[in-house]
Amino acid sequence: MRRVVCPGSFDPVTNGHLDIIGRASGLYDEVVVAVLINITKKSLFSVDERVEMLGEVTASYGNVRVERFHGLLVDFCAANGISAVVKGLRAVSDFEYEMQMAQMNYRLAKIETLFMTSNPLYSFLSSSLIKEIAKYGGDVSGLVPEVVRGQLQTRLNEAEI
Ligand code: PNS
Repeated sequence: MRRVVCPGSFDPVTNGHLDIIGRASGLYDEVVVAVLINITKKSLFSVDERVEMLGEVTASYGNVRVERFHGLLVDFCAANGISAVVKGLRAVSDFEYEMQMAQMNYRLAKIETLFMTSNPLYSFLSSSLIKEIAKYGGDVSGLVPEVVRGQLQTRLNEAEI
């Protein structure tokens, strides 16, 4: 079984994430999407909500599993029989930090990292920008899955009450 992990915060999942997950699912027997549990970082959606949205939008691939993890990614990989990480690169500016993490993960546990260049349609996308645009009433359709767009609206309406 050739298994790969797509790790991240996914607060929330965007069409850019989904593009990388979908392409990885065509290359590997199984893709494990791993949502980082980070209690120190303020998030818009809870880990449960993020996992649920990811499960919904990746269900059609058939070989994508969504999990949560805390601690080191290399420990999650060891516990799940995973030897490689897939990451999307949107721009050269992503590369510096990603390369550092890739080299550290290899140094720590010989975990390989494979970089996929993001689809140019989504290379300007980030979860933080999506949250900001949605917060001020901007249109995020086509940038996030419809279920995520709905959840964003609900969460931001709740915040206004
Ligand atoms: O979507 P993000 O927040 O950019 O994802 C970052 C993530 C989760 C991939 C990265 O922070 C991570 O792997 N965290 C787990 C902790 C860890 O292993 N740190 C050492 C990295 S070399």
